Amino acid sequence: MAPVRRRKRTGSPHPLITSQRGASLTITNAAHAMPEGGSLRLHTIRLDDEVAISVSDTGRGMPPEIQDRIFEPFFTTKQVGEGTGLGLSIGLGIVREHGGRITVESQVGQGSTFTVWLPAERI
Ligand SMILES: Nc1ncnc2c1ncn2[C@@H]1O[C@H](COP(=O)(O)OP(=O)(O)OP(=O)(O)O)[C@@H](O)[C@H]1O
Ligand SMILES: [Mg+2]
Repeated sequence: MAPVRRRKRTGSPHPLITSQRGASLTITNAAHAMPEGGSLRLHTIRLDDEVAISVSDTGRGMPPEIQDRIFEPFFTTKQVGEGTGLGLSIGLGIVREHGGRITVESQVGQGSTFTVWLPAERI
């Protein structure tokens, strides 16, 4: 009998799914950054060669030394058992596979904006 071959998975998710995933993980982080509530704003951006979704919160924000580390695998400021620290590192990996990037702007005590950028020609 011929051996059963596992079918290789081909292709990666559509860029729209990638951008939606990127946005959803940043929305989850934004909610965690506003334990007492706040405002969450989503914007879509269309440039000539890029499209983006930005997620802005009015949460605790991050100092520069934390911002420098948030894309490292397993980097988290959450309590043990509350966060794996993998959300942004995996999210950035997937976005980069599509030729995209994630930018961050943040001020301590003011809030943060995460923007997921993807090349427009792939959409
Ligand atoms: N919107 C935000 N406001 C403030 N800090 C943030 C925000 N988003 C991310 N961070 C910081 O970045 C860290 C890493 O985020 P990441 O999503 O990779 O992991 P996590 O949220 O800690 O855990 P999980 O793997 O469950 O997502 C967070 O622990 C937090 O310190
Ligand atoms: Mg997270």
